[in-house]
Amino acid sequence: MDKIIVHGGRPLSGFVKISGSKNSALPILAATLLTREQCIIHSVPDLSDIHYMLQILSHLGAQVERASGTVTIQADTVQTTAPYEIVRKMRASVCVLGPLLGRHKEARVSLPGGCVIGDRPIDLHLKGFRALNAACRVEAGDVKVFADELRGSTMNLEGRQGPTVLGTDNVLMAATLAEGTTVIEGAAAEPEVVDLANFLIKMGAKIEGAGTRRITIEGVKELHGAEHAVIPDRIEAGTFLVAAALAGTEVTLRRVNAEHLNAVLNALADAGCKLSIQKDTITIRGGGTARPLQLITEPYPGFPTDMQAQMCALLSRANGESLVTETVFPQRFMHVSELKRMGAEIALDGATARITGVAQLSGAPVMASDLRASAALVLAGLVAEGMTEVNRVYHIDRGYEMIDEKLAGLGAEIERVKQSA
Ligand code: UD1
Repeated sequence: MDKIIVHGGRPLSGFVKISGSKNSALPILAATLLTREQCIIHSVPDLSDIHYMLQILSHLGAQVERASGTVTIQADTVQTTAPYEIVRKMRASVCVLGPLLGRHKEARVSLPGGCVIGDRPIDLHLKGFRALNAACRVEAGDVKVFADELRGSTMNLEGRQGPTVLGTDNVLMAATLAEGTTVIEGAAAEPEVVDLANFLIKMGAKIEGAGTRRITIEGVKELHGAEHAVIPDRIEAGTFLVAAALAGTEVTLRRVNAEHLNAVLNALADAGCKLSIQKDTITIRGGGTARPLQLITEPYPGFPTDMQAQMCALLSRANGESLVTETVFPQRFMHVSELKRMGAEIALDGATARITGVAQLSGAPVMASDLRASAALVLAGLVAEGMTEVNRVYHIDRGYEMIDEKLAGLGAEIERVKQSA
């Protein structure tokens, strides 16, 4: 298992290009199963989660070709059972259910287990499929969905923790080929849902309201091939903004959509960073002591849960006490104990972290527990005194394309140590 070693204290400056969005690319790649025609997807990031999705598509029978950031897929004939060995590696595998159900009226996929950020149920996905007239059953650890005919209807997919992103994606994909009109109330409004809807519209789907809490889908008989470029990854962008807020003199992000980052940009401005936004670039001047903040994670357009861990790293060195409350995944605080090992003062009270800023963090060996938590530890390492060794970095490789090389390009002293498993 590789590890990343960071020597803290190097100022960051320069330019970094943001990759395509992982969370857009995953459902968009799955959506290519909805047609037998060829689809071409650009700006697909080179990440292990994407490799797993491409493996699943190949296993299902699709022809998959990849040349740098472009993936060409043709799912002429597909089978409808996704294998446990690949599915278990990535929760987002569940988003092949919707397109397979839409096209073949049946699908069988291993049920995703929980993960370190908490229980990850798919009850809302299944509620949506049932509303489309499908039956759903759990058999031998797999979830099986099937229907004689998919029929559109009105449903509400809002759960106790708010809307569901992949649940909305899944039902949206299935509904494109259902008979009649589907209305998803309580839909997720994340930019990645809009990106998927835009791709589906290019394939011939009739969708209105993506990006709002009500999406209307008029079912069509079939979809055709399409070409699409995935939107920039707002979470990767946010992570580099926090890196610059911690250790930057002046850093410019290229290929970024600032509109998708409003909540993060507002938080960073409140913390005292100077930001300048141009067409598809953001320049940030950081490196000073951050002002403390009160943050609450919420569904889009609120502050994203996927940026919570990174902000905890920033606020660990703020000039006072911050409160960070997690409402989307209330147990998502695995990074806290590791940040404390680096000298952070954080007390957890339920789903709220009370962070008392300290003047200096100190490098330590730490353990990555999930994707964004690992990023937070690398960020803390950038400003910690001495050496930070982040172990189990396969988590970070799931969602960040070459994060070590990109940070090194900005001046960080960071290296990856390859280790055999
Ligand atoms: C997606 C993102 C993930 C992000 C999350 C929230 C992808 C690949 N992943 O995950 O990075 O952190 O959105 O923005 O796009 N829930 C239920 N029942 C369900 C589904 C979800 O109760 O059937 C709950 C979850 O436990 C959680 C909340 O709803 O508390 C939001 O989860 P959801 O939006 O579904 O997350 P994902 O789509 O899995």
